Amino acid sequence: MNAPTPIAVLISGRGSNLQCLIDACASDNYPARIAAVISNRPDAYGLKRAKEAGIPAIAIDHKAYETREDFEDALDSALREAGAEFVCLAGFMRILTAGFVNRWDGRMINIHPSLLPKFKGVDTHARAIAAGESEHGCTVHWVTPGMDEGPVIAQARVPVLEGDTPETLAARVLVEEHRLYPEALKMALNDTASVLR
Ligand code: GRF
Repeated sequence: MNAPTPIAVLISGRGSNLQCLIDACASDNYPARIAAVISNRPDAYGLKRAKEAGIPAIAIDHKAYETREDFEDALDSALREAGAEFVCLAGFMRILTAGFVNRWDGRMINIHPSLLPKFKGVDTHARAIAAGESEHGCTVHWVTPGMDEGPVIAQARVPVLEGDTPETLAARVLVEEHRLYPEALKMALNDTASVLR
């Protein structure tokens, strides 16, 4: 087997998707290893998860930078210093400029809690309920400059049930996110490998 690809996971908060990637990378024959976890929020709980797993945990506070580009330059440098060759966004709540996205073109994926192209952006669960959807879910997709617009790698579906609140629906979707992200990352890395071959 080839050596696992060094990836970075970018987070802003709780980091439950990060945790499922940490767990997947710890399993035999998984094609990635986490070289760094980076948060734009120094208080993100996910940084603690990374430290507990012995993974370099880096805070790059976006508020310390005057412009989005300055923040992204710092982020890019940290990614390169960590040796990351691939980036997973996992609850990373900063919009990235086209300049940054293009630097990682074909090497950056995101998980979004809706069945894209439905419900781009935030508050997806409340919007799915308000729209009377009978099913909802999550999507892992390539990151392109348009927010939540890149090609879909994989999706998982859940039913919307009578009496669902945004919280109950989010919890049902989250279970699927945790199953989907490691599988989709594996698929994405396979795609990348076939492009490089
Ligand atoms: C997840 O629902 C993810 O799809 C969305 O933000 C949430 C992050 O949760 N982009 P966590 O930090 O991974 O627990």
